[in-house]
Amino acid sequence: MSKAGRLVVLVSGSGTNLQALLDASADPSYGARVVAVGADRDGIEGLARASKAEVPTFVEKLRDYGTRADWDAAIAAKIASYEPDLVVSAGFMKILGAPTLDAFPVLNTHPALLPSFPGAHGVRDALAHGVKVTGCTVMLADSGIDTGPIVAQEAVPVRPEDDEAELHERIKTVERRLLVDIVGRMAREGWTVSGRIVRIGNQSGGEST
Ligand code: GAR
Repeated sequence: MSKAGRLVVLVSGSGTNLQALLDASADPSYGARVVAVGADRDGIEGLARASKAEVPTFVEKLRDYGTRADWDAAIAAKIASYEPDLVVSAGFMKILGAPTLDAFPVLNTHPALLPSFPGAHGVRDALAHGVKVTGCTVMLADSGIDTGPIVAQEAVPVRPEDDEAELHERIKTVERRLLVDIVGRMAREGWTVSGRIVRIGNQSGGEST
């Protein structure tokens, strides 16, 4: 069973999910702490949040490398240097390659109920489709776009007056709480993956043991 004490969190934007993890891990009983924050771009609020919390940061920009494979290797090496038990992709808008995915468990959070509306515009796509309920998904990353085994989901109703920004803010309120809860439980209780089925701790899933 895997455990997740040391977290490397990857961000590309405002980093409110990162902030929720930083806040939670201020309490040692949470069981996990953010040991580094990585980004694919400079000048974002997520990096400023890490610096304010005195957490080391690194930036690996795709355009600084000749090939995607070079960038994949570089970001994996940077992540590895912090010896994480778990990598959390929290609003990191790049697909991680095999060098990272083969070396570490990677948890990802997405603002829609997968497998519906994967990709960079989950909130916009759900609204355009006219769904009445959407939500957020915490999953283990694999090589696809938001296709990995699902760890947890929570629903958020769509209101008739919602625009993308309003709906995303309401989803993020739920998403932050869910992510903090799941990361903490994974750290404290461990988890197992069997095919697409993720179990935290000793959940039997109803099977006799
Ligand atoms: C979150 O809603 C996250 O699910 C989404 O970006 C937002 C980041 O917010 N990620 C994706 O859409 C990835 N497909 P934050 O920077 O405030 O944590």
